[in-house]
Amino acid sequence: MAISGRKSGDDAGVSPPGGSGLVLRPGYLDGVAQAALLEELRAALGEAPLFTPTMPRTGKPFSVRMTNLGPLGWVSDRDGGYRYQATHPETGRPWPAMPDVLLRAWGEIGGYGAPPEACLVNWYAPAARMGLHQDRDEQDFDAPVVSLSLGDTALFRLGGLKRSDPTRSFRLASGDAMALAQESRLAFHGVDRILPGTSALLAKGGRINLTLRRVTRP
Ligand code: SIN
Ligand code: FE2
Repeated sequence: MAISGRKSGDDAGVSPPGGSGLVLRPGYLDGVAQAALLEELRAALGEAPLFTPTMPRTGKPFSVRMTNLGPLGWVSDRDGGYRYQATHPETGRPWPAMPDVLLRAWGEIGGYGAPPEACLVNWYAPAARMGLHQDRDEQDFDAPVVSLSLGDTALFRLGGLKRSDPTRSFRLASGDAMALAQESRLAFHGVDRILPGTSALLAKGGRINLTLRRVTRP
């Protein structure tokens, strides 16, 4: 499968000033690779359908829908809160395996020795968004968080280690890869909005984000 952009072994890709530990690889997956990954995701979604997570305590539904791939999946609901578990909250079945292209991306972009354990699949309808948050439900913060975007472009917001730190925003387009590593591993981040009509990959529009994470310490 063709993967465009830099070869593995190159340095960390584009690192904007002040974004220490932020790795951006625009166009990491070319059009053919994006379409092939989408096909693999469609099969996985048949086994592990999208569900609507809810906020701890309040039970307020997220605007994104989710599922997971790999040995562990991230879930959230009113009574159990944010957590990782080995099974789908609605079907009770194990999550489907992660496609090879994702394992390869983890190695090439994250460069972490141990494999990822969870791939969170977020599906954004055109009006969905994600509030500013940190990814901190993992035991291992030494491992980066690696993400791939498919479909419509997102306006992604990245801040610092405190919620009140200044933030900046940039676009993540279909095929783009990003890693939050080192000093950016625990940076606050979110998705302000999706820019409808910016990609033809998903026939009905919207965006898929795949977030790869190591959960346990190797
Ligand atoms: C997330 O932080 O879980 C998702 C980020 C994104 O959709 O790009
Ligand atoms: Fe996140």
